[in-house]
Amino acid sequence: METLPLGNTGERVSQLALGCMLMGTMADEETSFRILDRYLDDGGNFLDTANCYAWWPGPAFRGGESESLLGRWFARTGRRDEVFLATKGGAWIRDLAEVRAHPDDPGAAARQYEGAGGQTLRRALDDSLRRLGTDHVDLYYVHVDDRNTPLEETLEALADLVAAGKTRYVGWSNVRTWRLERIRQLAERHGWPAPVAVQQQHSYLRPRPGADTTSIVDDEQLDYLRTHDDLTLVAYSPILKGSYDDLTKRREHHVMESYRGPDSDARFAMVAEIAAELGVTGNQVVLAWLRQQRDPRLVTLVGVRTLEQYAAAVRSLDVQLTEDQMTRLAEAGA
Ligand SMILES: NC(=O)c1ccc[n+]([C@@H]2O[C@H](COP(=O)([O-])OP(=O)(O)OC[C@H]3O[C@@H](n4cnc5c(N)ncnc54)[C@H](OP(=O)(O)O)[C@@H]3O)[C@@H](O)[C@H]2O)c1
Repeated sequence: METLPLGNTGERVSQLALGCMLMGTMADEETSFRILDRYLDDGGNFLDTANCYAWWPGPAFRGGESESLLGRWFARTGRRDEVFLATKGGAWIRDLAEVRAHPDDPGAAARQYEGAGGQTLRRALDDSLRRLGTDHVDLYYVHVDDRNTPLEETLEALADLVAAGKTRYVGWSNVRTWRLERIRQLAERHGWPAPVAVQQQHSYLRPRPGADTTSIVDDEQLDYLRTHDDLTLVAYSPILKGSYDDLTKRREHHVMESYRGPDSDARFAMVAEIAAELGVTGNQVVLAWLRQQRDPRLVTLVGVRTLEQYAAAVRSLDVQLTEDQMTRLAEAGA
């Protein structure tokens, strides 16, 4: 599996990162362990989780299930040192009963995020390390940019965590470009570690005009990343939950709310056309398209629930889009 440099850190991470969000909940332990074994055997080294993964698949879950499963897998295999391990803090749900009491309110969870206060992050990372059964992670993200906490407080806490050896690098997720720039300026001014990775939702479809792009890479962010190669884009939900091959998801999945419209219709049609030419799936065309991006290059963070889905993602590494196909994909749209 190809690797990419992570910012200017000197580290190299797999171009295909493995999202562990559903491990321990939607994906059972046996399946998850098999996926993890296969990913490392295939040469992968970049695992992604978060402390809040995953409270939402059902009432039996609280968050922490994914990290705990990874901890058990590390204990069983001894492979902790073979991976570049990323986790996140800040989106742990304080009052889960309150969120569950309002299932139709899309803002209910966000109101309960514990945020990126200094004390919160210090405690949250200790909790994550305990679940993961390790003394450090390689990358610790602020999961959701927190406008209610002074950035100085968050950055100083992250600097302490790096100094204590509990994380080697820091990153940010779900963050606007102007905030990233402010974070970087503050880090430089105070000598605090600056983020080396930004984790955002990014796929082939473009967000529709008027969509909230705090979490989604937009043109401005791409432009910014092109000129800041010390910051690596880690693209989550790359296949928009499988929407490229599933008409029901395309119509009904909440992830599509940010994309529906004529531009996406035209882009879906182009993906289908090229998938038919190559005899592969639409999801695989999109994963190949992301892999072949050069400016900026990016890490594609796939989420898989089954071994078959994992195998399909790995097969996308063999899909090579021609220059003509890349051009047609780039030009498709309304
Ligand atoms: N920073 C953040 O806020 C944030 C947010 C979301 C995710 N993430 C990270 O990014 C990772 C990936 O995100 P994601 O799960 O949203 O990514 P995704 O790859 O867009 O979606 C994964 C889903 O796509 C479907 N799928 C996967 N392979 C498929 C295949 N071959 N054929 C048909 N359907 C397929 C499955 O849906 P079904 O389960 O329905 O089959 C799977 O659960 C997560 O694990 C997590 O680590 C981060």
